[in-house]
Amino acid sequence: MMEQKKVAIIGAGISGLAACKFILSKGMIPIVLDARGAIGGVWNETLKSTLLQTPKNMFRFSDFPWPKSVTTEFPTYSQVLDYIKSYAEHFGLLKYIRLNSKVVNIEYEGFSDEEIDGWTHWGHSGNSFAKGSKWKLNVVDARTNTPLQEVVADFVVLCIGRFSDVPNIPNFPPNKGPEAFTAGKVLHSLEYSAMDFDGAANLIKDKQVTVVGFHKSALDLAMECANTNGPKKPCTLLYRTEHWNPPDTYPWGIPLSFLYMNRFAELMIHKPGEGLLLYLLVILFSPIRWLISKLVETHIKRKVKLAKYGMVPKQSFLQDISSCIFAGLPKNFYDKVDEGSIILKKAPSFSFCEEGIMIKGETEPVHSDLVILATGYRGDLKLKDIFASSAFRDYMLFGDLIVPMYRQCIHPRVPQLAVIGFSESNSNLYTSEIRSRWLAEFLDGTFKLPSVKEMEKDIANWEKCLKLYSGPSYKRGCIATLHNCYNDQLCKDMGWNPKRKKGFFADLFLPYGPSDYAFP
Ligand SMILES: Cc1cc2nc3c(=O)[nH]c(=O)nc-3n(C[C@H](O)[C@H](O)[C@H](O)COP(=O)(O)OP(=O)(O)OC[C@H]3O[C@@H](n4cnc5c(N)ncnc54)[C@H](O)[C@@H]3O)c2cc1C
Ligand SMILES: NC(=O)c1ccc[n+]([C@@H]2O[C@H](COP(=O)([O-])OP(=O)(O)OC[C@H]3O[C@@H](n4cnc5c(N)ncnc54)[C@H](OP(=O)(O)O)[C@@H]3O)[C@@H](O)[C@H]2O)c1
Repeated sequence: MMEQKKVAIIGAGISGLAACKFILSKGMIPIVLDARGAIGGVWNETLKSTLLQTPKNMFRFSDFPWPKSVTTEFPTYSQVLDYIKSYAEHFGLLKYIRLNSKVVNIEYEGFSDEEIDGWTHWGHSGNSFAKGSKWKLNVVDARTNTPLQEVVADFVVLCIGRFSDVPNIPNFPPNKGPEAFTAGKVLHSLEYSAMDFDGAANLIKDKQVTVVGFHKSALDLAMECANTNGPKKPCTLLYRTEHWNPPDTYPWGIPLSFLYMNRFAELMIHKPGEGLLLYLLVILFSPIRWLISKLVETHIKRKVKLAKYGMVPKQSFLQDISSCIFAGLPKNFYDKVDEGSIILKKAPSFSFCEEGIMIKGETEPVHSDLVILATGYRGDLKLKDIFASSAFRDYMLFGDLIVPMYRQCIHPRVPQLAVIGFSESNSNLYTSEIRSRWLAEFLDGTFKLPSVKEMEKDIANWEKCLKLYSGPSYKRGCIATLHNCYNDQLCKDMGWNPKRKKGFFADLFLPYGPSDYAFP
């Protein structure tokens, strides 16, 4: 009898749970390790006001619908957490999960760095498992930092999350960073989100709060401050770039998914490895692509009067959505600006001073009691630092925080390891689930990987296409506008028919989503 393979999965957020489910279904033994005391990843530590910003029919496991009791399109954070927990219970995943188990680092045993460097095929053969090689995981109890028994596995799946644990703190000149702000306190949004709700409310109450950033965390935080303090102690929102933060997902009454998540929309976007016909179609349809972007932009401008606030972005909506910079505008956001509870202030560059923040080119500081940096995360550092080997760490050092991987999951030079949840889309659950399914098929031997050279070429082709539309905002390996094309490749690898809808017109015009991939 063949020995059952052990697959260590690091992280028990949506990515780790989906990976666990599919790996289990292939008869392998998953061992899921998570540093937190609960499953669900980021959904355990959010603001009180956090809602899912992706419509729930897009943010769902393909074979596990939301319960009927959740009737809103954008459930609350606690409904999301309940949904994730019931998924884990329903598929019997809990017994494979070890909580409070932080993986300090992982070591590859079996082949030297030089041998790996010389391989023409991933793992020597392009197969999922290699004879005589293992990963050793050094684990500590996250509460006490005491070592736990090491875990030895045939394969590792990193599901450690892109938007958690490691804050992105801007760089400042010497003595002009947070240490210079002696009159108040500086926090990152992740620290604020980790507080209990009462503690967080007390912290901001009656304080002059400055929030830095203009994406989802910043918008929600500014709203929370505005609702707590009103115009008496307005919250200053310091932003660097204006973005198209849509007030709803129905531009001029049309669901956004009909504009960006069907095959017709993808005919307007250059695709990796496209032939002449598809290339010409993109050229032919490019005016429609422009028109669709304008349609969304005019809808947003009309609904929230961006020009009145001087908040019209320079870049197109297409650039924002192609970069996964898609933050739903909180309800009544600009009402709070009108009432004086939120002050919008542009700051291309800033530093700290004794009284608060100094914007480059200005002479008066932004007086603050509390500064909250909603400046995003450095998940890329987590990914790098988990490797014991400096060679692997170097492979994980990318420019622009991008994680260039084959099928956005496999680094061609890091054997017996996959990453899920780093390249983004507008519904990360949808994306992580199909990747997990693809990975399980690969582990089960359904297909092999191509040579290292071919994988590198494919990665470069993808990067080139994705960068075409994201421009300078290409930081997240975002596949949002090419999701169908991406899924098609995974389906072909797995031997599935990529066309998941009945009929030519349905397949061309209806948006694709998780439920299209529930079964082979
Ligand atoms: C507040 C918030 C709201 C969001 N809303 C949406 C949304 O509406 N739609 C959307 O598509 N995306 C949203 N996102 C993006 C979000 O990151 C994903 O949707 C998704 O939940 C991420 O899941 P994940 O499993 O990949 O990572 P995470 O949820 O970050 O989980 C990673 C897990 O890995 C564990 N871990 C990390 N390192 C180690 C280690 N060394 N050892 C052991 N365990 C480790 C962590 O403890 C964590 O539990 C949101 C993000 C945030 C922060
Ligand atoms: N469902 C929800 O309600 C919800 C809530 C929170 C977060 N999220 C998700 O979680 C993820 C992380 O969101 P996030 O808002 O925390 O981070 P983020 O999307 O990475 O946004 C970071 C913000 O900080 C700004 N910034 C970064 N470095 C800066 C610097 N040096 N100086 C000034 N500004 C700087 C960025 O400006 P630029 O635009 O100029 O780069 C951007 O506005 C996203 O996927 C988001 O959608 C969802």
